[in-house]
Amino acid sequence: MDDFRRTFEQQLAAALPGAEIALERPRSGELGDLAFPCFRAAKQVGKNPVQLSQELAAAIHIEGALLMAAGPYLNLKLAPEARAKAVLGAILQAPAERPYGSRPANGKKVIVEYSSPNIAKLFTIGHLRSTMIGHALAQAHQFLGYTVVRLNHLGDWGTQFGTLLAAYTRWAQDENPDLDADFDWAEVAPERRRTPLFRLFQLYVRFHAEEENDPAMRDEARAWFKRLENNDPRARELWKRFRDLSLAEFQRIYDRLGVRFDTLEEGEAFYEAQLGPTLKRLEASGLLVEGDRGARIIHLEDVGIATPCLVQKGDGASIYATRDLAAALYRKATYHFDRCLYVVGTDQVLHFQQIFAVLDKLDPWFKGRMLHTPFGMVKLPEGKMSTRKGNVIFLEDVLDEARERVAAIIQEKNPDLQDKADVAEMLGMGAVVFFDAMNDRVKPITFTWDRVIALDGDTGPYVQYAHARIMSVLRKAGGDWAAKAQAGAAKGPFIAFVPTPLPSDLEGLQAPEAQALLFELAGLPGAIAAVADGCMATPLARQLVAVARSFSGFYTNCPILAPENTPEARDARLALCVATARALCQGLFLMGIQAPDEM
Ligand code: ARG
Repeated sequence: MDDFRRTFEQQLAAALPGAEIALERPRSGELGDLAFPCFRAAKQVGKNPVQLSQELAAAIHIEGALLMAAGPYLNLKLAPEARAKAVLGAILQAPAERPYGSRPANGKKVIVEYSSPNIAKLFTIGHLRSTMIGHALAQAHQFLGYTVVRLNHLGDWGTQFGTLLAAYTRWAQDENPDLDADFDWAEVAPERRRTPLFRLFQLYVRFHAEEENDPAMRDEARAWFKRLENNDPRARELWKRFRDLSLAEFQRIYDRLGVRFDTLEEGEAFYEAQLGPTLKRLEASGLLVEGDRGARIIHLEDVGIATPCLVQKGDGASIYATRDLAAALYRKATYHFDRCLYVVGTDQVLHFQQIFAVLDKLDPWFKGRMLHTPFGMVKLPEGKMSTRKGNVIFLEDVLDEARERVAAIIQEKNPDLQDKADVAEMLGMGAVVFFDAMNDRVKPITFTWDRVIALDGDTGPYVQYAHARIMSVLRKAGGDWAAKAQAGAAKGPFIAFVPTPLPSDLEGLQAPEAQALLFELAGLPGAIAAVADGCMATPLARQLVAVARSFSGFYTNCPILAPENTPEARDARLALCVATARALCQGLFLMGIQAPDEM
């Protein structure tokens, strides 16, 4: 396909000297494989775009392709065999270490900061968004040739620790390592929630509830945070214990999601020692001014931000923003990155505007490198989720419920399936993660169990089903067909497939349904690039649905193993099956979803 693209671009450039040649993808494979919108060029040469596209269609000739004017667009449509050869070649012959759609190293480094939960809180469905959007962004960037650093800005510092320490010392018994003294665990369902971390979370919720009526408790919490900041041994010891408990819990969830970070050390607490130097640097730059009650702030009106950035409270305590400034300076020095993406909710838009504005003032190196990629919050039908109030949906409950629902269906439809439990887990995860990706990134999501765990329609399981169905066809075909579609080990985002020769005769792929499938497969590299460009997984999720849907059309209309098929037609169609399975498996993997071979 790249060859055709280059030739097309060259011919257009020759016919339209000086014009900007930007090709698009037509809406369907019927229309063609590449489209040149004539609007801009037509204006430059003083013609109307419809007329220009007709003139170009008559003037340009490319072997193996048809040039057609479609209104103001000039479409290039490959002859059916040329399309089959181009697409199958690109997928089946891709080197194992450079899968279809990937790009060679580009020498650029991107930090993707994602997930970043607060310690001593449980992982909610809200955290899934940052975690999986961030994972897909990291995967896609690496796939496209960037060096990627995956960071987690763990919320392991801050005034909420004061709350936690105060709550703990008030109500929990230290001698009891399980934190469960004086507590009726029977109230807590399901079983697996009966963990120390859950108990901590309950203490936290209780503190906030009682604090409403007893404002003195707020001072208690503040005092505890002060002790922590001043390195009080008792406060430190408890902090470390809570942190370890939380990390173990988070790690379990990350393992389940298949998500990993380059380090979990660089959370907020990590920057403690750098806060002093950061404040000094801000002071020296003359940016820091005195605000209300001894607080220190940086004005940003001159860059259009009305609210100043608070960097130090009146009592000298550091805040969230100070730690973000220190983190950015540290990342510059440590990683020398080209881009730093912050996958954090829309509720922090102002925070990042302020941080980035301060950094720009402090050091112009930061200009254009920092990007907040906000996402919409998950809401409950009755309103906002609030950890403090305790009305949250835990991620594990959602994943478990999804798995149970799938398991029930498997039990009914395919009770003899091997590895039932694993498949149920993969499909349940597929449903939840894919649902997230199909949503517009910035719009809020209203959580209902049936929406988030939908298994029909444009869902992860629908795409996973297409993959499993192909594998079943390939197993039936015998020989080494199934082996050709077998995924090798993954290295980072890359899944290795052994390069396979193309059948010499591709005539069996002339049917419109086969051509439609080839067209959708050809759309995958662009969709992966769009994930990185638009900082969201949605384009890839949509394209995978398009591939799965056109596979279904192909499967229904083009017999594959039917006895009346010639051996050539059979081989060509099986080769298309292999290519489709590879592409689906790789595409899902970039999103953090696995493709079972059977279901
Ligand atoms: N821990 C924060 C939260 O749960 C998110 C951190 C986002 N990243 C950052 N660099 N500020 O709201």
